Amino acid sequence: MTDTAQTLPEPEAVGKLYDQLTLSAMKDGSFNTNVHIGYWDTPDSEATIEEAMDRLTDVFIERMKVDETSHVLDLGCGVGGPGLRVVTHTGARVTGISISEEQIRTANRLAAEAGVADRAVFEHGDAMKLSFADASFDAVMALESLCHMPDRQQVLSEVARVLVPGGRLVLTDVFERHPRKEVRHVGIDKFCRDLMSTTADIDDYVALLHRSGLRLRGILDVTEQTTLRLADELAKLAAVEERPAAMNEGNFDFADDSFRPSDLAGVDDFGCLLAIAERP
Ligand SMILES: C[S@@+](CC[C@H](N)C(=O)[O-])C[C@H]1O[C@@H](n2cnc3c(N)ncnc32)[C@H](O)[C@@H]1O
Repeated sequence: MTDTAQTLPEPEAVGKLYDQLTLSAMKDGSFNTNVHIGYWDTPDSEATIEEAMDRLTDVFIERMKVDETSHVLDLGCGVGGPGLRVVTHTGARVTGISISEEQIRTANRLAAEAGVADRAVFEHGDAMKLSFADASFDAVMALESLCHMPDRQQVLSEVARVLVPGGRLVLTDVFERHPRKEVRHVGIDKFCRDLMSTTADIDDYVALLHRSGLRLRGILDVTEQTTLRLADELAKLAAVEERPAAMNEGNFDFADDSFRPSDLAGVDDFGCLLAIAERP
């Protein structure tokens, strides 16, 4: 299934969803500076979910190849956890953008509290039309954000435009693994519907990057290290049977059968890919 056959997310609605999820997580005590999956290097890794979340950012850091002279764009920056880790671990300057105003407010507060507001700046913006000049970043990171954007091609073309020659893009995205089932697993349907996402086609990804003006450096199926393991870890926690509190509040009319992380436990066709590309 391609982007066009799926319901395309609307950036404004995605922003409101993340506003609500952020406020509600702060209220119910589940707030986390990382809004992403974890990365477990090996099947026998005993890393906690928290450690695995930080490890995913470290996987990005290793592949972006940045240092204190670099300026990094965090595309879909959440509440700033990954961007702040890049600043403190590499010394690079980070600019993050998110379509959620509430996330941006929170990320800038966390940067100030960490004493790095001079090196980490978060701005409200839409990745579909970046406000930055051509060739203004040494690297771009996109942790689990492209799935919410209505046109991956447009976003990746914007990324190519704002990268310096030789600058790297590292991203994770969700996709449906082969063999494709005739009927998509209900857990994937619920994920896409309630978290306003689409799944990519890994077969198309290389062409997508090339058409955007980027040169592929590597593409990996990291499902076992990420989504599959996270769903299993979450399914072990009794709390996952509860719908995320955010879904019970605000103006969203979630159906009774709304998405729960345990819906994806053991669903090995819900894939996660890691792609590395550079602007020639
Ligand atoms: C799953 S969260 C990941 C957040 C962050 N990358 C992290 O790892 O903690 C998805 C992020 O993508 C952002 N996003 C979705 N669509 C966007 C768009 N069109 N423009 C900018 N940000 C967007 C959301 O606001 C949210 O911050």
